[in-house]
Amino acid sequence: MASPSASAGQRPSPLSEDVVVAHQKRAAAMAAAEMVTDGMKVGLGTGSTVAYLLPALGERKLRDVSCVATSPATERAARELGLEVRRLDELGELDLAVDGADQIDPMGWLIKGGGGAHTREKIVAAAARRFVVIASAEKAVDELAPPVPLELVHFGVQSTLRALAHARLRAPSDPEAPASAPSQQSPDGGLIADYFGPVGDPRELSARLSGTPGVVEHGLFAPEMVSLILIAGEEGVERRAGGKPGD
Ligand code: 5RP
Repeated sequence: MASPSASAGQRPSPLSEDVVVAHQKRAAAMAAAEMVTDGMKVGLGTGSTVAYLLPALGERKLRDVSCVATSPATERAARELGLEVRRLDELGELDLAVDGADQIDPMGWLIKGGGGAHTREKIVAAAARRFVVIASAEKAVDELAPPVPLELVHFGVQSTLRALAHARLRAPSDPEAPASAPSQQSPDGGLIADYFGPVGDPRELSARLSGTPGVVEHGLFAPEMVSLILIAGEEGVERRAGGKPGD
């Protein structure tokens, strides 16, 4: 739409890419919020797309909804919006979990963990009967590309990195992190790293990463973990079925 100040013959200034992406993230998040109903137990992912889900959920004023948060940031934001947050072990099986993704390929494989929360995110996704992914259009890619986020145990981390090859620790994002901190850390004390080697067949890479001693979890999510992918683009919200059966 032309800006009100654009006069005849002038090109309207295009919306900045950031504004378009933010709009798409919100649209995908709103579509997922509509899937939550009274009494549900809901897993909340982490990241800027999920940040649009939380107020959308809060505004729905649903009754008896209990949530599990995959990161301290999500937990704080959810509580501030009046959502009830409990521990996963208190809730057991979840009805639904909703989360963002860094990349989505045409087969439904995901790369997650841009925020270093992929271990908790995978546990919560697996604990949910339905796992719904929300994303803006630029997250849909023809082929997954590195980096693939990793969580590693402290002990022998240099040996683990050598065994993985092409992997390195991720610098702390917190400017107040002590200089001695070797990398960004997960809320469970693991070291966050990234694998920069080729992805190739994601199933093979997934097996190799999982089979490397010292790797707690990696950010490749297989299609069979995902029930539904909501990708918001210019034409609205595209719904891609995942491989996880669900009601
Ligand atoms: C965090 C994640 C996020 O879901 C992923 O990084 C996408 O983030 P955003 O919604 O900010 O683009 O996996 O660990």
